[in-house]
Amino acid sequence: MFKDKKIVFSGVQPSGTLTIGNYLGAIRNFTAFPEDHHCYYCVVDEHAITVRQDPAELRRRTYETLALYIACGLDPEKNTLFVQSHVTEHAELCWILDCYTMFGELSRMTQFKDKSAKNADNINAGLFTYPVLMAADILLYQTDLVPVGNDQKQHIELARNIAERFNGIYPGTFTVPEGFIPQSGARIMSLADPTKKMSKSDENENAVVRILDPRDVIIRKFKRAVTDSGSEVRRGEGKEGVGNLMNVYSALTGKTDEEIEKEFAGRGYGDFKAAIGEVCADVLAPVQSEFTRLVADKKYLESVMKKGADEARYNACRTLSKVRRKVGFIEPVRD
Ligand code: TRP
Repeated sequence: MFKDKKIVFSGVQPSGTLTIGNYLGAIRNFTAFPEDHHCYYCVVDEHAITVRQDPAELRRRTYETLALYIACGLDPEKNTLFVQSHVTEHAELCWILDCYTMFGELSRMTQFKDKSAKNADNINAGLFTYPVLMAADILLYQTDLVPVGNDQKQHIELARNIAERFNGIYPGTFTVPEGFIPQSGARIMSLADPTKKMSKSDENENAVVRILDPRDVIIRKFKRAVTDSGSEVRRGEGKEGVGNLMNVYSALTGKTDEEIEKEFAGRGYGDFKAAIGEVCADVLAPVQSEFTRLVADKKYLESVMKKGADEARYNACRTLSKVRRKVGFIEPVRD
């Protein structure tokens, strides 16, 4: 397919309230692609129902996730912002790709293993084929680059394998995508347990800083962050907590480890944690006020959803009709 621009695609689930991990590791970096890239950012509501959702809540969070995309600096005039379930081609391509994905491959996905351990009473087929829907999201747009956090690496690898397998049988169908994993902020860990990723669904509220947390809450959570019995701000064995805080501070300020060590030399953890809280609250303040303005304007958000879905659908249909033809489906007769 002829493309005059590199295609970027990423998705965020509208489940749970987004954390600074999602912001620093993913959404903030979405704004960094130059003009010669066309970017699709999708609110993946179909992925969200692999675990039980309250319908009213899911709807509300879908609006909020879109508002947050825009508040974080994604201009709907320059990017295609849309809701996954509005473009039914995603689910349709997913089915076709299901038939080109192996049971064994899906069984090896670590996120599936984690999620099925957490949701032992609801290990549904959707949870299992979740990465195939993600591959469909990506491959529908002939995507070149997929900016994601480190935890999605395995899913990107699977999308590449599916694309290559499909292309092996039906040459020239899909662009084989590459993951784009940011260096800084790629993996923000829990403030309560620095060996675990910061997760928006963590039961311990003190473990996560959310993009929409009020200033005093942000400052308090950083103050309570788990460190170690030492006092020196530097990386080292047994200092995973401090290392994680250094990652956060570096992602927020752009400072290097050396600069951070110098800044806090002889000042102890208390000062360091207070400084991170302040900077984090400052960085998030404009995002929060823009978010508040946008969520109050549903009409506007709906107009963005419509425009985005129309743009996305146009390109999704082109890929899907090619795929349908290749696998041997008869083009439906339309009058
Ligand atoms: N699985 C991703 C996550 O949980 C979200 C996602 C769905 C996604 N489809 C995508 C990310 C396509 C990148 C591209 O973070």
